[in-house]
Amino acid sequence: MRMIIDTDTASDDAVALAMALNHAEVDVVAMTTVAGNCSLEDTTRNALYTAELCGSAVPVYAGADRPLLVKARPATWFHGMDGLGDQGYPPPSRSAEEEDGVSALINHIRGNPGSTLVTLGPLTNVALAMAQAPDIVDLVGRCVVMGGTANKVGNVTPAAEFNLWFDPHAARMVFASDLPIEMVGWEVCRGEAGLDPTEQAALRALDTPLAHFFLDCNSTAFESARRQSGTDRLELPDPTAMAVAIDRDRVVTSSSRHYVEIEAESQLTRGMSVVDSLDVTGSPANVEVINAIDTDRFKQMLSEAAAG
Ligand code: RIB
Ligand code: CA
Repeated sequence: MRMIIDTDTASDDAVALAMALNHAEVDVVAMTTVAGNCSLEDTTRNALYTAELCGSAVPVYAGADRPLLVKARPATWFHGMDGLGDQGYPPPSRSAEEEDGVSALINHIRGNPGSTLVTLGPLTNVALAMAQAPDIVDLVGRCVVMGGTANKVGNVTPAAEFNLWFDPHAARMVFASDLPIEMVGWEVCRGEAGLDPTEQAALRALDTPLAHFFLDCNSTAFESARRQSGTDRLELPDPTAMAVAIDRDRVVTSSSRHYVEIEAESQLTRGMSVVDSLDVTGSPANVEVINAIDTDRFKQMLSEAAAG
């Protein structure tokens, strides 16, 4: 499959990028970066570094450095100041392409009709691309979004998940478009989808550079999640969404189509993904909501990527 990835590369994004770059059946034609977890400079550096670890020359394009309207509020508190657990990784040996990320999204979507767009961060680039080139909406085969929660608790406010909260106006635009969205909410990425201590040890025991990288760059995120919710599992939202994108038939065990709208104005519920699960609005379904996954299959894909 041809894939375009839009990412605010921090620790869990990095694992998701490696899953795609190392997968024999995935051709990542471009990666575009966006401000989110950390600054655009840092997300771009992290994407380039991760591609280098995977021996990939995939072009990386830097996109939006801030949300459409609200002030940028990065999550360095969660992922570490550099986004990769402050491990002191060396700078990447190559730079991003000259072309900006929004233009690159438009051109690569136009050049690869039917491709899978995977979004792992705030939707600023995608919203800007759609506004500049409305024709791209019909050219995207699948749009797998790590974002939102289906009427469950948020991770950055009680109501909202980080990616949609960081740029709620962009998220509202994208979810109101005709993009073929498959929403992988934060609730799907928690619990059994997280790696328990035994599974973390088994990953470490692979003793490959990527296995160590996956765990080391997520060490700060692991501690942050433990403080936030008491979990002893390593929760990896972006890799969970990437598993859905790569191997939907074996990963997704339950999904349903619903009308979903994103709140953009309320301070209390900014970024909330309001899922009409009972169809009480009568509005036409616009999103395929992923309700449950095969966590064993997801973890098997993670290990395969780490072994690569
Ligand atoms: O809420 C989790 C999401 O926000 C993940 O994509 C993580 O990388 C951050 O971007
Ligand atoms: Ca992300």
